[in-house]
Amino acid sequence: MVSDRSVVTMNGLILFALSIVLISGLSEKEISMLTMRAIRANLNRRVQPCTSFWGYACGNWSSSYVDNFQLVEERYVRAMIPVLSGNYSKERMKAPRLMQKMSDYFQACTRDQPKVVELPQELRSANSEWTTAVAKLRKYGLNGVFFEETVDVAYNDSLRSVVQIKMPDSSFDLKPTAQFNRELFALRSRYRKEESKVESWTLLELKQQIPQINWQNYFNELLETELNETALRLEVSDVDYLRVMGELLQRSNKTQLEEYLCTRLVTLERAARSRTSTAAACINHMRALLPLGMNYIYDQFVYSSRSQDTPQLNEIFAGLRAMFGKYLDANRLQLSAEQLDYVRTKLMGIKLKIGNLPDPLISAEFFDTHYESANFSSSDFQHNLWQALRLRTRLQHAPLLQPAAALDVRSYYVNDDVFEARNAPYFEPERNTLTVPMIFMQFPLYDYRQHSIFRSSLMGFILGHEMSHAFEHEGILYDAAGNESPIGLRIRQLATFQAALKCAQQTRTVSLKERLADFNGLQLAYDTFFGLDHNSQQLVYRPYGFDREFVAPQLFHMNFAQFFCGRLPPAIGHDMDDVRVNEAERNLHQFAIDFKCRQQSAPQSMGCEMWRPIGQ
Ligand SMILES: *[C@@H]1O[C@H](CO)[C@@H](O)[C@H](O)[C@H]1NC(C)=O
Ligand SMILES: *[C@@H]1O[C@H](CO)[C@@H](O)[C@H](O)[C@H]1NC(C)=O
Ligand SMILES: *[C@@H]1O[C@H](CO)[C@@H](O)[C@H](O)[C@H]1NC(C)=O
Ligand SMILES: *[C@@H]1O[C@H](CO)[C@@H](O)[C@H](O)[C@H]1NC(C)=O
Ligand SMILES: *[C@@H]1O[C@H](CO)[C@@H](O)[C@H](O)[C@H]1NC(C)=O
Ligand SMILES: *[C@@H]1O[C@H](CO)[C@@H](O)[C@H](O)[C@H]1NC(C)=O
Ligand SMILES: [Zn+2]
Repeated sequence: MVSDRSVVTMNGLILFALSIVLISGLSEKEISMLTMRAIRANLNRRVQPCTSFWGYACGNWSSSYVDNFQLVEERYVRAMIPVLSGNYSKERMKAPRLMQKMSDYFQACTRDQPKVVELPQELRSANSEWTTAVAKLRKYGLNGVFFEETVDVAYNDSLRSVVQIKMPDSSFDLKPTAQFNRELFALRSRYRKEESKVESWTLLELKQQIPQINWQNYFNELLETELNETALRLEVSDVDYLRVMGELLQRSNKTQLEEYLCTRLVTLERAARSRTSTAAACINHMRALLPLGMNYIYDQFVYSSRSQDTPQLNEIFAGLRAMFGKYLDANRLQLSAEQLDYVRTKLMGIKLKIGNLPDPLISAEFFDTHYESANFSSSDFQHNLWQALRLRTRLQHAPLLQPAAALDVRSYYVNDDVFEARNAPYFEPERNTLTVPMIFMQFPLYDYRQHSIFRSSLMGFILGHEMSHAFEHEGILYDAAGNESPIGLRIRQLATFQAALKCAQQTRTVSLKERLADFNGLQLAYDTFFGLDHNSQQLVYRPYGFDREFVAPQLFHMNFAQFFCGRLPPAIGHDMDDVRVNEAERNLHQFAIDFKCRQQSAPQSMGCEMWRPIGQ
């Protein structure tokens, strides 16, 4: 058992080390007490919970140096370094070639950090037609310079791979060094204002519709094979922009275009490469760039509580799903029978995954050969980095070469263009799947030995939030199979649905969908734990055995907020953490009761609820 002193008063880094070594041997009561200590260490009692709940629950986090994501990342790194350095049980290794590749990559990364960027051989001497040049660099991950090209699934068929083409999101990355850049910048500003329609075309149709761009050259170079032009499907946006851009680039100086593309690739290489040459930075870099290899190895050799975690997570998830089902029984939004059926079918179809990995029944052979086309050396990091970027683009495009461009769901995992791996759970509407990264399954975010109130308030909220993404104004458009559906669109247009959206925007928000997921996720998790007809005013709570001060509903709110304590990455696509916590609690009307806030607001201000039955 950890003594009070060691956890509460020692400085943060020592606290990390201690908890890493000692957590594994703790009992259920001890781990719950440790959770309480983390909560208490973050508390700032000078702030009134009713005034700013985040300020109260998290206001003191910096004095104990605990940042939840940093903590789980450090543990991940610490566990993976020895494995990638060769300390693992060889008998258990079912994918030795994958392991060899990953170890080589890691070794070169820690030993050889080149100072200047050297371009891949095939890019050094070129004088290509511009679409060929763009495709050559696209192979190494460069995207969105003149247009953005990604592989996704068809809007109406989530099992069919398509190419999406559109104008890049940002104009800021165009430096007005060359003439074509200045003109392109102006072009984008002009066309950005226009509402763009998405066209669904074959490659043949694309070539006819936008002849200003040599698409055949582009795809031949990118895919290194001759394509069937009536079989490849594309979803194309910003058609007018693409036409004018094609004309502009045809007229431009090829040498200058290529030089510009190469400087952009160098910038991309720098972003992909970890800033330092530490082993920890290499692990995080590999986690983003080579997700399948890292996830497989972590799952095989580090993640040891899957068998305990899985049934628990399934149970929390089943509880949330059942509660959402009760919400639907009350039918607050007054959906028609068809619409209710659509929502219910979708709800029942949501899949939960621990770890961004393919189907668990897939063979070890799949893992062993998946990175076969990449050639990693144990000494040349620059070479490896290009190989890894090349591999990623190749794997992303591979489904296009399958018969009927079919996506194989058994081997599916997320392999997108990121340089920082995802730590937090996410929902994919096209797959109707909620994934919890394995790195997230660690104390203090989750531990199977924690008291259920901790698991239900933090993981329950997270799963509730992600589940709610299926039913906000963007997610609702996708049906249970991940296809866009007119029924979803009609639900979104309902006056009751629109009123709920409006309510959630009474105070400013960076992202409406995140806010809706927060509100509904917290309400769902709370109702699932305490029951739908719960009234904490009428119940007498006694503190649990592991804590003498707080009663259950208070602990629930505090541990929910605990997730948001710390130096989370600068909010991208979310409101700041304090806003998220305060707004979500303000819209759960039991919160004011649980903390005995003086009811200043009128009784009719029940908060914004979308799916929750009226009066709960
Ligand atoms: C903040 O935490 C420190 C150390 O845990 C504690 O000594 C201090 O009283 C706390 N401050 C507040 C305002 O709660
Ligand atoms: C290898 O791992 C085992 C078990 O984790 C550990 O006991 C041992 O000290 C490690 N050996 C080296 C050389 O790091
Ligand atoms: C999807 O839409 C495309 C174009 O709009 C159409 O050609 C195709 O048949 C549709 N597929 C399905 C499965 O409905
Ligand atoms: C190209 O694809 C079309 C439609 O999918 C198919 O009918 C045709 O046989 C294919 N052609 C070749 C040469 O494979
Ligand atoms: C294209 O640009 C390069 C480098 O700026 C220059 O040397 C070359 O003469 C230009 N070519 C033409 C045809 O203008
Ligand atoms: C693999 O990369 C090394 C350079 O690190 C190179 O010497 C070797 O020829 C490459 N092998 C293949 C098959 O590409
Ligand atoms: Zn979200």
